Amino acid sequence: AETTVYRAGTTAPVNIAVVKYWGKRDAKLNLPTNSSISVTLSQADLRTLTTASCSTTFTEDSLTLNGELSDISGARTQACFRELRTRRAALEASDASLPKLSTMSLKIVSENNFPTAAGLASSAAGFAALVQAIANLYELHDSPSDLSLIARQGSGSACRSLFGGYVAWRMGDKADGSDSKADLVAEASHWPSMRALILVASAAKKGVSSTSGMQQTVATSGLFKERIERIVPDNMVAMEDAIHNRNFEKFAEVSMRDSNSFHACCADTYPPIFYMNDVSRAAIRAVESINAKAGKAIAAYTFDAGPNCVVYYLEENKDAVLGAFSETLGSTSGWKGGVGSQSGVLDETV
Ligand code: PMV
Repeated sequence: AETTVYRAGTTAPVNIAVVKYWGKRDAKLNLPTNSSISVTLSQADLRTLTTASCSTTFTEDSLTLNGELSDISGARTQACFRELRTRRAALEASDASLPKLSTMSLKIVSENNFPTAAGLASSAAGFAALVQAIANLYELHDSPSDLSLIARQGSGSACRSLFGGYVAWRMGDKADGSDSKADLVAEASHWPSMRALILVASAAKKGVSSTSGMQQTVATSGLFKERIERIVPDNMVAMEDAIHNRNFEKFAEVSMRDSNSFHACCADTYPPIFYMNDVSRAAIRAVESINAKAGKAIAAYTFDAGPNCVVYYLEENKDAVLGAFSETLGSTSGWKGGVGSQSGVLDETV
């Protein structure tokens, strides 16, 4: 029995925020300066697949990401391991028949089916999958919201990948972070015609990490104060309302305005940070012309901490949106493979 290897696996999806998390009020606990909302994408296109195992024969914790051994000494990864072990230890303390998995070394093996750190929110799916895989291995009874508290400590945006559909991360106001967690705004089935088109402007590793970009923004941008005090709180209310009412025009306007506000704050830092490039700006113009032609917003662009564009649209407008992109951007240099992969919205939780 002492050579038993215990194992469990899971997949976790990527989420792309429509009201962005940008800024930490506590860097150690990954507590944000504002709440955020995201849409979870289909696992068919973008996901992390993770297996967690443990055994008394393993000599140290390890994490292999896309075939390469990863550094796990960082405080974020260590916090996730520690929190999960503490919860497992509590179960073991209350039931002596349970194997003492909390004292064994962990071996984590993880694979992404998309480029890591290209601004495609790989850390979100990565930490969500890591936390869920270990929670499955430990047979924890914690809800997705409880697990989101742990995933948040790995990477802020990861807390939203514990759910499918439309997800809010409530910033909370407690100093220990115990109320800074994700909850479900609506299931994917509430608005099943939502689609996301991902335009890969560059699959290269991003220039300024989200952690240092956030730090610089909080420290040096004057616009940022306006964003967290007024713009984001208004966008949160408007976005939840748009999702509940399946109001795409409102969803689109708030998404685009919020992305613009986030990138304006980055440009307002000293020295300025630019995540978007000429290809990104061509995508914005393409969305604007699609919407002008339709006479209303049928497509919404949003950009994270990188040049890649995510366009949300409804299935019924597929021809107008995808057609316009292949015309406008098919010949634009810088697009990897022209029009990117198309994703549906995930219908299930991890
Ligand atoms: O979770 P992090 O630290 O990689 O930060 C993600 C920040 C954005 O992707 C730009 C916005 C968001 O809400 O996901």
